[in-house]
Amino acid sequence: MQRFAIIGHPLKHSFSPLIHNRAFADLNMDAHYEKIEIAPEEFEREVERLKNSDIVGFNITIPYKERIIPFVDQLSAEAVKIGALNTVKKVGDQWHGFNTDWIGFLRPLEKFSSSIKRCLLLGAGGAARGVFFALLRLPELQHIVISNRTRRRAEELVNQFRPFGQKTIYVSGFEYLLNMNERFDLIVNTTSVGMSGHNQTILLEPERVAHSKTVVYDLIYNPLKTILLKRAEERGLTTINGLPMLIYQAEEAFKIWTGRGFAEKTRTYLFDELPGLIE
Ligand code: ATR
Repeated sequence: MQRFAIIGHPLKHSFSPLIHNRAFADLNMDAHYEKIEIAPEEFEREVERLKNSDIVGFNITIPYKERIIPFVDQLSAEAVKIGALNTVKKVGDQWHGFNTDWIGFLRPLEKFSSSIKRCLLLGAGGAARGVFFALLRLPELQHIVISNRTRRRAEELVNQFRPFGQKTIYVSGFEYLLNMNERFDLIVNTTSVGMSGHNQTILLEPERVAHSKTVVYDLIYNPLKTILLKRAEERGLTTINGLPMLIYQAEEAFKIWTGRGFAEKTRTYLFDELPGLIE
């Protein structure tokens, strides 16, 4: 049996074991995926132990996506640019690191991508880096406004990704949002505002910066509908929550490990059943 795992802290609410074990079962694969919760002070020792175990691949989640980097032998080009790993694979006696979050983010946008020219990105933390990297790959996207409570952090993020070719990038603090007179085709929230257990509020009213075809995308999946998504839905806008990204980043990791995508019935099961486990 092949063994896989997820490392992070805390991991109590992680859906990754359910997702991957379902995918293995649906493809009749002899493999198992488990949770390995690691306390921050034990990180180094536990990662070395994991690398010396019979585990052949693992995911990395908060707060270790950056801290894992020195423990792998080779990084994919995307992982280098984003500066964070969510997937690691054993190749011979080496460990290779990847980032699949950005692909997971893009998948639900594919059907809109030809009409996304202007984007408002909220937040400049770890999640925003993968999103920004993904946005730069949208062929029609011309203009990004990235806005963060701490403006300096947004500037640092943007500087890591230069040059931008024809695309224009504007950095702002939140005060700019209050008087903004721009409309966007895509609004993305990567902050924790609206997450269960965090600030139950909204950074801006979507209709102030949206037109009738704007897509409002919140990376949060708990709750399934943040206040931002509720407001957007009430205004008749298209909304995307964080659940598809969660499922697709997992599928991309699964492909790296096994060379196979999820069975169609796995995807159907996950899209049908995961929402019920969240609310
Ligand atoms: P993640 O890896 O999930 O992105 P992070 O790196 O801690 O986590 O980033 C959290 C993001 O949410 C940041 O953009 C943060 O803004 P700051 O850079 O100013 O800290 C944003 N954020 C968190 N709480 C917030 C709040 N109450 N209001 C506005 N932004 C908030």
